[in-house]
Amino acid sequence: MSAHGTPIPMMAEPAGPLTGTADVPGDKSISHRSLILGALSVGETRISGLLEGQDVLDTAKAMRAFGAEITDLGGGEWRVHGVGVGGFAEPETVIDCGNSGTGVRLIMGAMATSPVTATFSGDASLNRRPMARVTDPLALFGAQAVGREGGRLPMTIIGARDPVPVRYEVPVPSAQVKSAVLLAGLNAPGRTVVIEREPTRDHTERMLAGFGAEITTEVTDEGRIITLTGQPELEGQTITVPRDPSSAAFPVCAALIVPGSDVLVPNIGLNPTRAGLFETLREMGADLSYENPREEGGEPVADLRARYSPGMKGIAVPPERAASMIDEYPVLSVVAAFAEGRTEMRGVRELRVKESDRIDAMAVGLRANGIEVEEGEDWWIVTGCGAGGVAGGATVATHLDHRIAMSFLCLGMAAQSPVHLDDGQPIATSFPVFEPLMTALGARIVRTERP
Ligand code: S3P
Repeated sequence: MSAHGTPIPMMAEPAGPLTGTADVPGDKSISHRSLILGALSVGETRISGLLEGQDVLDTAKAMRAFGAEITDLGGGEWRVHGVGVGGFAEPETVIDCGNSGTGVRLIMGAMATSPVTATFSGDASLNRRPMARVTDPLALFGAQAVGREGGRLPMTIIGARDPVPVRYEVPVPSAQVKSAVLLAGLNAPGRTVVIEREPTRDHTERMLAGFGAEITTEVTDEGRIITLTGQPELEGQTITVPRDPSSAAFPVCAALIVPGSDVLVPNIGLNPTRAGLFETLREMGADLSYENPREEGGEPVADLRARYSPGMKGIAVPPERAASMIDEYPVLSVVAAFAEGRTEMRGVRELRVKESDRIDAMAVGLRANGIEVEEGEDWWIVTGCGAGGVAGGATVATHLDHRIAMSFLCLGMAAQSPVHLDDGQPIATSFPVFEPLMTALGARIVRTERP
């Protein structure tokens, strides 16, 4: 039910330095998976640090509709009583996944091998996004999908009564597709094999193992071959959700471009399948350090410290790094606008099918704020104006996309003139405390009546 309400116009204007500590919320990818795997387990799952953004709340609601008992205990603590693999009940109403591609695609996978039928819908952004990438492999298990033209939502999935295991090579670098196939494989007898040529975030594999599934990953010349043995008994777990590196990206990048800033962002997971942005920023010359590096729950974690970095240089971002920073290109393009020279971002076709066409949304908004951008189907290049050189002053369209909204607010914090958004409401899908958190660091973000 996200981003359905009245638009909230916003503005960010240049203010003093950003200083202090930014406690960003829990990881969105891990939060969705905690609820879904908890719902597919027997017994109780306890989750702390769950992201209480609208996307995840929509997934919680969906899991209740499939029969799981989910309780918000307060303070980021949640309890899930699962129904077990194959135990989903048929929902009585349409499942509204709001703005969340991750939510809908993972849930479709999770229900596709159970004998239930469910209809999925979302907001205007989600209803435009391609679902065939998920329903094609789900059909191999025996599930049927009926949706709108081009494989769009609203869509009904009829789960397979007698599912068969599959071997599937994922044709696009997508953790959502990989995860949907693995979750479907849970209730198919025998072994389901997923092959991915380019590594994508591996939370589903790690968490399935943690819940007791038999799952292996073999790294070969063909790519990663993931093998899951179906029909395990998953057991409820106690999960502490790490903080989201994709949310950390915003205070980190804002600190790099706002003069005088020095911000600490503690406890950020640096799983190599997620940390591409930070590596890229360091290559650009950002003053970004990893303090107190350690291991938590089998994941590398550190406190990120970002300081104002006036001398950053544009670079060619290695295309093979794209999957590990796919959600961070919008805010990287903002940093690139304050660097010297060109930042080339290639091999990023997937950006065109996110909550918005992110290349187009950023290119249009950056140009309106005085920045030169070239683009092609799967690449874009931002020519930086150097520290302090960005004009700003424009109003940009956020297209129901939280990351476009937060990226342009960061631009406004360091530009010569304020930057306006038509609608900041989508920020609540992933980072509901963005405004108070950035304001506490020293940013000036205002809800306006304009445009
Ligand atoms: C996600 C995977 C990525 C990412 C999204 C979260 C996930 O999407 O953009 O925000 O949790 O699996 P794709 O799988 O479409 O690349």
